[in-house]
Amino acid sequence: MRAITYSQFGSADVLELTDQPDPHPGADVVVVRVRAASVNPVDWMVRQGYLEGVLDTQFPVVPGWDVAGVVEQVGLDTPEFRVGDEVYGYVRKDWVHGGTFAELVAAPVRTLARKPASLSFEEAAAVPLAGLTAYQSILRSGVREGQTVLVHAAAGGVGSFAVQIARSLGARVIGTASEPNHEYLRGLGAEPVTYGDGLVERVRALAPDGVDVALDYAGGDAVAASAQVLTPGGTVTSITDATAREHGGHYVWVRPSSADLEALGALIDAGKVSVEVGQVFDLADAADAHRASETRHGRGKIVVRV
Ligand SMILES: NC(=O)c1ccc[n+]([C@@H]2O[C@H](COP(=O)([O-])OP(=O)(O)OC[C@H]3O[C@@H](n4cnc5c(N)ncnc54)[C@H](OP(=O)(O)O)[C@@H]3O)[C@@H](O)[C@H]2O)c1
Repeated sequence: MRAITYSQFGSADVLELTDQPDPHPGADVVVVRVRAASVNPVDWMVRQGYLEGVLDTQFPVVPGWDVAGVVEQVGLDTPEFRVGDEVYGYVRKDWVHGGTFAELVAAPVRTLARKPASLSFEEAAAVPLAGLTAYQSILRSGVREGQTVLVHAAAGGVGSFAVQIARSLGARVIGTASEPNHEYLRGLGAEPVTYGDGLVERVRALAPDGVDVALDYAGGDAVAASAQVLTPGGTVTSITDATAREHGGHYVWVRPSSADLEALGALIDAGKVSVEVGQVFDLADAADAHRASETRHGRGKIVVRV
């Protein structure tokens, strides 16, 4: 099969299109013919070696954890799926090696669910990692109807899903973004505020009684700023900064989950959550897809078409 690979840590220049052996299904693993994958910031952080010590790496690495495609081969005991099923998934394994920027990927069944019927493969590939992160961090925070929720980096991959999921639960949502993304946030149902100096005062002006839940998808000083605008008993949950725990909050690392992917898919097919695809690249141009994500600004998920 053709795949994007790298054999040393480094800049996007280490990514190359190579021939690799086809993966085999394991006992609880199916082989998926990849139709699309998407880029998440963790892909280039792993490529730069930032997660050494968290996840073991086996070179050559095929990057990418998000996939949408069709089941091509089933494993010895995989009653969940049949050949021909259209699936999507967050195919993070326990080590870094065989990712989704390839024509085929071996995917443990716990990482997959049926693709939402209303989405194209490219849209579906944009969902799993970011959507699951939003879903799981909102569950962990206990967001419920009538609460005020502050979402940092609300226009990003994770934030745009979180805004919509929190709205579907009946929460009021305030979201941080740069001005060009404010109209986009209004369309998702959030009240936009500009991040940077003065953020705490701007949030207080919108929510004088404080926010019940703050969701940090931005990093930097978002946890510290959140702590200043929480209601008594309010919580901050971060996916970038474990100091959230020092404020009685949570730090979340997204886990593969078929059940959570099915729940997300139901929200999508019910029209409660929409998917914004930004740029789409061909597999051979995966390095440019990584570079686009590394700017850390913009709107919509970056998708790689296989
Ligand atoms: N722990 C986990 O399991 C987990 C899972 C997923 C992601 N993450 C991490 O969470 C972060 C967000 O991921 P993502 O996929 O949402 O990234 P992303 O889609 O690349 O985020 C880009 C967005 O971030 C916004 N942004 C940049 N700097 C900001 C700031 N200081 N304040 C507010 N918004 C800002 C940009 O808005 P503008 O264009 O308007 O500036 C842009 O819309 C990354 O650091 C990622 O590594 C962690």
